Amino acid sequence: MKKILLLGGTGFIGSSIAEQLVRRGDAVIIPTRNRERARHLLTLPTVELVNADVHDGAQLDSLVRKQDAVINLIGILHGDFERVHVTLPRAVAEACARHRVPRLIHMSALNAGAGDRAPSAYLQSRGRGEAAVRAVADQTPSLKLTIFQPSVVFGQDDRFLNLFADLLRFSPFVPLGSPHAQFQPVWVEDVARAMVMCLDNPATYGMTYPLVGPDVVTLRELLERVMAATGHRRLILPLGPALSGLQALIFEHLPGKLITRDNVRSMSIPNTASMPFPAVFGHAHSLGDIAPAYLSASLGRARYSALRSAAGRKS
Ligand SMILES: NC(=O)c1ccc[n+]([C@@H]2O[C@H](COP(=O)([O-])OP(=O)(O)OC[C@H]3O[C@@H](n4cnc5c(N)ncnc54)[C@H](OP(=O)(O)O)[C@@H]3O)[C@@H](O)[C@H]2O)c1
Repeated sequence: MKKILLLGGTGFIGSSIAEQLVRRGDAVIIPTRNRERARHLLTLPTVELVNADVHDGAQLDSLVRKQDAVINLIGILHGDFERVHVTLPRAVAEACARHRVPRLIHMSALNAGAGDRAPSAYLQSRGRGEAAVRAVADQTPSLKLTIFQPSVVFGQDDRFLNLFADLLRFSPFVPLGSPHAQFQPVWVEDVARAMVMCLDNPATYGMTYPLVGPDVVTLRELLERVMAATGHRRLILPLGPALSGLQALIFEHLPGKLITRDNVRSMSIPNTASMPFPAVFGHAHSLGDIAPAYLSASLGRARYSALRSAAGRKS
């Protein structure tokens, strides 16, 4: 049984990784800012969910101490990128070095490699974060680092295709910003498997792996696939660059910030990779193999909860 600290383990990808680690028999510690919101993880037998502020040096030190490996998944799409994508990863790597933790897995994003040449503040911060953890690992022979850079990740609880499915339910048309943006969606279980498999594989030490699925699709094609899976055919209104920026500007001022101008800038370069999913982690599933089943099931769940609320019952 290995002891693994899973930072960001309460999220979409983290929950899949936690399940796969538990299946291997590992003991997993997951810090969170809100234990109540992450109750779904409490059913996993070898997971310990703890309230913690990982930005606090002393708390981070006590979490990292005596672990066999640390996986850092913490990331944001808007907000203080420097703090979350650069300062925190550097502090995590330094804590690993101080406590002689032998293994660090760092989650980044596709196109982060472009560093300060990247088109968005998000991608630039991802590049600086990678450089920061690499610098610590380069100075620390006992610390073996592996970095992952996924394209957009899909799966039953994703916030991307499911968001499209929700929009389609309520709107007769969809004004779509950045319709030609290209992605290579990768399944959450394939991402989780890669991150878990690499833990014990020396061939992955020091490596940076882009993680992509087999399909290259535009944002418009993704929306069309969601329409086909849910049976909600709607009019798509593709927006040009200026209107895509304006749409994002409006959303930036709404709660939840569905999209920001910085997100639009990230999408101005293809979110695709020249190499396929790394063979060392097996084979990546296609969007068509996985997404239609959960998207049509979400339709069923939405109908069921609408019927329940129409009948005045809580879901
Ligand atoms: N999903 C994708 O399509 C995709 C694609 C490429 C890269 N990635 C990267 O993969 C990682 C995981 O993605 P995800 O979709 O699983 O994200 P997610 O569902 O939003 O989960 C993010 C996790 O990070 C923690 N977190 C967020 N902001 C934090 C902060 N300021 N301080 C401390 N903890 C914070 C949250 O923990 P609590 O709220 O419990 O504290 C949560 O567990 C992220 O780094 C993301 O950028 C994701």
